[in-house]
Formats: sequence, structure tokens, C-alpha cells
Amino acid sequence: MSTKFSTPHPFPQLDETALLSAAEALAQQWTKPIQTVLILGSGFSQLARQVLNNAPDRLVLPYGEIPHFPQPTVVGHQGTLLLGTPPGSPHALACFCGRFHLYEGWHASQVVAPVRLGKLLGAERLFVTNAAGGIHPDFQPGDLMLISDHINLLGHNPLSGTNLERFGPRFPDMSEAYSSSLRQAARHIAQQQGLVLKEGVYAAVAGPCYETPAEIRMLKTLGADAVGMSTVPEVIAARHAGMEVLGISCISNKAAGLGDSQLNHQEVIDVTARSENALGCLVQAMLASV
Ligand code: HPA
Repeated sequence: MSTKFSTPHPFPQLDETALLSAAEALAQQWTKPIQTVLILGSGFSQLARQVLNNAPDRLVLPYGEIPHFPQPTVVGHQGTLLLGTPPGSPHALACFCGRFHLYEGWHASQVVAPVRLGKLLGAERLFVTNAAGGIHPDFQPGDLMLISDHINLLGHNPLSGTNLERFGPRFPDMSEAYSSSLRQAARHIAQQQGLVLKEGVYAAVAGPCYETPAEIRMLKTLGADAVGMSTVPEVIAARHAGMEVLGISCISNKAAGLGDSQLNHQEVIDVTARSENALGCLVQAMLASV
């Protein structure tokens, strides 16, 4: 029997059958169609509560209660799914607090499980957040950056292998990965809220070590404004499934070699937590407006 990998992958692929059984189990507890999937990255643990605090129908599920669903291993990533209809919004939201990264060893199909599960429950949109190192000279720690496009340097793609026809085509278009109409709405809301919203290209690298200064100079030459270790697999899976995407990075630090200090994960969590309220207000208004 032939295998595609010379060493077995530490985590098995999350296949269509497992996804369908997870969706079926969720549908026993949650019967309304989901419109939007929100994935929260490092340091944004309170944002879900802010958005769904007063939702009368709120349901909280630890990932461990969803069959076949992985468990995050990174500090600052909780592993809880919140479902509910945010006040002021006509539609239900699935908010995944805690994401899966390739550097944890997860298979790309597991990294995108929240997107595909949301799609099976009806979601048409993905809102995705992350922490990122700022490469653009105008970006300061604490800034929020609307992602206008990305560069995938992860060395993985969640669409590798047999195409899941249920979700989308073999060769999906990526020319507008981040919806221009959602970005326009976000800019408009930020302006109304007096919030400065930067905009730029997000480069995804494998991690888990931070970059060297030489790598940051290379990324700048390639056209990246910010760098992180996540988000791109979820965005690819969402576009494959025909979902509209809004991505927002919190610039948690100046990228390696551009600031005065060394990088550490606690600083990333602390800085993103300080921007959480502003991001929460933006997300709340976006949910109510579209
Ligand atoms: N590099 C990569 N990922 C990150 C960074 C960084 O500087 N900050 C937060 N996530």
C-alpha cells in the first residue's frame, strides 16, 4: 500500500464523515441557521462575551463536547464555541474562541474545522482575527489592521489532497480573498467610531519561532505589512466554500529587528487584550450592519 507521507502525520485528517457527524451533533443542540463564523485568536478571550453577552439564546460548548473536534494547546486560546444571536443582529453567530495552528502539529483539515463546521450549519461569512507583528513602518503595537490580502508562506494548504466537492471546486479563485464590500463597511464603521483602522497585507509563516530580522526584511520586500502564524488556512477554506471573509489583525509588536525589545508570547497576549474592546465594538457593529 502506498502512503503520501514518509512519516505518519501526528494528527489524522479530519475527513468529511467526521465533519458531518460533528455538524449533526451540534444541530441537536442548535437549530437556527448560522450566518457568520467568528474565529478569535490569541488574547481575545473576552471578545466573544462582549459580542454575545446579552444574546438571549446563547449556548456555550467546550470544544471537547463536539465530536471529532480538536483541542487547542496554546496559552491564550480557550477552546470554547459560543453560539447566539448578537443583540442588534438579525442572524446567529458561531464564535470559536481558540484556534488551531499548523505549528501545534494539527493537520490542515483540523485547522479549518471551525470554518467547515460553520459552513455545514449555514454560515455565509467568516470574520477572522489574529495577532500579528507589524512590518509596515507606520504600524504601532495596539493598532488594528484590516487584512487586504495575504501571502501564504506556511508550506501547507487545507485544500491539498482529495477535493471536498461538498464545499467547493478543485481550483478556487483567490483574487478577492478578503471581501472588498466587507472591508468598505469596516472602514465606514471604524470612521464612525473614531477608530483608526490600518490596512495591509498579512504574511503567514509556519512558526512557532518568531522571525529573524533578515526574514522580516525579506517579507517587507515581498509586500507584507504584517506577519503571523495563522488565519490563511481558514481563509482559504472559507473562500473554497464560497464564504465572504473579513480579516482583522491586532498589531501586537513591531516585527523582529524593527523594535527595541525581543519578542515574547505574553507581550502578544497583553497587547492584543488591550485592543480587544475596540475590536469588539467594530465586530459588533459589523454584525449588526450586514
Ligand atoms: N511574528 C509572527 N507571528 C506573530 C508576531 C510576529 O512578530 N506577533 C504576533 N504573532
